[in-house]
Amino acid sequence: MLIQDNISLKSYNTFGIDVQAKQFVSVSNTKQLIQVLKAHPNTKKLLLGGGSNMLLTQDIEQLVIHLNLKGKTEISKSEKHVLIEANAGENWHDFVLWSIEQGFGGLENMSLIPGNVGTSPIQNIGAYGVELKDTFISCKALNIETLQVEEFTNKDCKFGYRNSIFKNEVKGKYIILSVTFKLTNITHNLKVSYGAIKDELTQQNISNPTIKDISNAVIAIRQSKLPDPKEIGNSGSFFKNPVILKDDFNKLLKNFPNAPSYPVSETQVKVPAGWLIETAGFKGKTFGNYGVHKKQALVLVNYGGATGTDILNLSKLIQETVKRIFNINIEAEVNIL
Ligand code: EPU
Repeated sequence: MLIQDNISLKSYNTFGIDVQAKQFVSVSNTKQLIQVLKAHPNTKKLLLGGGSNMLLTQDIEQLVIHLNLKGKTEISKSEKHVLIEANAGENWHDFVLWSIEQGFGGLENMSLIPGNVGTSPIQNIGAYGVELKDTFISCKALNIETLQVEEFTNKDCKFGYRNSIFKNEVKGKYIILSVTFKLTNITHNLKVSYGAIKDELTQQNISNPTIKDISNAVIAIRQSKLPDPKEIGNSGSFFKNPVILKDDFNKLLKNFPNAPSYPVSETQVKVPAGWLIETAGFKGKTFGNYGVHKKQALVLVNYGGATGTDILNLSKLIQETVKRIFNINIEAEVNIL
């Protein structure tokens, strides 16, 4: 395996930020990964998957290891279910499309989410009423210290809203190598209650949707609202939707009677950050070559040539303004490096 010096990471992050990796290596199997880790025990490392959930604000001094582990295996199949193990470097959306082509259900609502299979459990990706944890059985992960492969079950991962053990207790300690999903084989458990999906299916005159129809509907909705990273640099939702106390939300309603919210618990609600940012006046705002997406205020965009610091500063300005107007803290969903 060749360790390369001074490699641009522009094509390795969906924001398209042009920073350099001092040292870069791409590994295509676990053996190679272990070799690199063994050969550089005391070097700081940055693991890179699909690069879809990171904002790079400076050149990377650490050794960048690009996880390019490909392949999927059918572990078992029964009348109703199939277990598929997909390696970490598989592109998420390609994997979703492949599973639909095989007739396997469960991932269709998560079509077109950027990133790779290996990073999907870290933030428990989700969209349109479905989260990764709904089909996740287990994942294999390499313990960076012991170089042993360990298995994490669904329960072990402590999944929450855009959250898991990999963002907390064991952060930075493991490299996810593969994920095993339990998908439906014949009878699918379709989730079409999410308003936007319902509307899209009605518009297309589909009353008995297949998993492919749902995937197509999700693709159409996402394409109408979210910019394609191949055309405009972005990393999906930049912020998480804040969870606040119901009491605080009721106070907010006095000044903003149209404020939307989703129930979370007896005492808490989730407020769409996109609404807060739009109401704060940022939707579609452009600052030279970067800004806030025109159709979805939750997404920050690089129109080409922006630096990570430009985007980071914009995100801070948005956070401060939202805090001043609504007294609500919005947290970044992307990792800032
Ligand atoms: N809204 C606005 N203005 C905007 C955007 C949103 O007012 O510019 C309000 C609207 O009231 C809308 C509500 O926010 O009804 C919710 O918007 P949407 O349904 O588009 O969902 P979201 O909360 O903005 C979340 C996820 C997305 C996921 C969608 C669909 C987070 C942080 N984001 O967005 O995930 O695709 O739901 O399920 O939870 C991602 O993580 O990268 C991502 C795109």
